[in-house]
Amino acid sequence: IAEPVLSFTRLPHPAPVADEVREGILAAPGFGTQFTDHMVVIEWTEGKGWHDATIGPRGPIPLDPAASVLHYAQEIFEGLKAYKHADGSIALFRPQANAQRFNASATRLAMPELPEDVFVEAVRQLVLADQSWIPGQEGASLYLRPFMIATEPFLGVRSAKQYKFIVIASPAGNYFKSGAPAVSIWVSEYTRAAPGGTGAAKCGGNYAASLVPTAEAFARGHDQVLFLDAAEHKWVEELGGMNLFFAFEDGSLLTPPLSGTILPGITRASLIELAREEGLTIREERYSIDQWREDAASGKLLETFACGTAAVVTPVGRVASPDGTSFTIGSGGPGQTTAKLKDRLVAIQRGQMADTHGWVMKI
Ligand code: PLP
Ligand code: COI
Repeated sequence: IAEPVLSFTRLPHPAPVADEVREGILAAPGFGTQFTDHMVVIEWTEGKGWHDATIGPRGPIPLDPAASVLHYAQEIFEGLKAYKHADGSIALFRPQANAQRFNASATRLAMPELPEDVFVEAVRQLVLADQSWIPGQEGASLYLRPFMIATEPFLGVRSAKQYKFIVIASPAGNYFKSGAPAVSIWVSEYTRAAPGGTGAAKCGGNYAASLVPTAEAFARGHDQVLFLDAAEHKWVEELGGMNLFFAFEDGSLLTPPLSGTILPGITRASLIELAREEGLTIREERYSIDQWREDAASGKLLETFACGTAAVVTPVGRVASPDGTSFTIGSGGPGQTTAKLKDRLVAIQRGQMADTHGWVMKI
């Protein structure tokens, strides 16, 4: 039996952002610094389940200083985008996949699952309320951030008995400020996730642990941090907030397997399907940093790119390691396979190409 979708109570907004201020923000949204007028909040209480769904003004949330999330980081989140199509309609890209991954994360963090339909409906409600916040220009969209926090005031270490699910939205342009044709990455000596850990969950703690490595990458002039596996410090896993792909001269495309220590990216899954349709051979295989360096030098490896909701598809041009070595991939700029896959993905997301996979949800 399908869970009934909660009904959302609409709270009045006393002071939405003025039209001309919003238009100014939408012209150059950046990433993650500007927010829309509304937010969705749904409460969960043990014994009662999900209740009190509201959509109202975005603003501070009341939180007891003993709330579990503040002490033991019981938090998970998602990231997806809404697009304005040329005909004026609004589309979400694979929201059901985000709902499924959200529940996988919830299970790993001992949090309650949210029915997929409720997740999607919450996102849809927010996008409808804030539809004037979706930038229309190329490369821009409305980034949606659903998340769940443990709100029970309790300092014992066990899963909480109260949670809040919240969705906020932020108009987004390019994730990388540099605007460079390809990004440069720093191979970290730190580990992101170990077998049996939380690497496959989208939980805030994973990102907290990535901040020092990321700061090191930035301090050395790089755009992103690369993590290797925890056990051998040899196998390429993923970047701080993106999955990786490698395109070879023999027409194959490699991406590290979903070993449990990397995030199962929805962009990654989509690109695998698109690449197959382009006739590329997909290899979900382990790839070592030494082999990567060797293949880049011999010319066997033509391209490397990073992918994710925020970063879309971004070429990787250069890789630097703490031992002082660095190498360039191909010309150091965007390559043909990267460009072709990115164009196809973006065209589907933006409604410029037929959606033969059922990925686009018009709202
Ligand atoms: N890997 C990490 C660590 C991420 O934070 C993200 C971004 O969400 C991804 C990969 C890519 O996932 P997706 O394509 O679902 O956005
Ligand atoms: C996303 O791409 O949605 C992410 O979560 C990556 C980053 C902003 C953390």
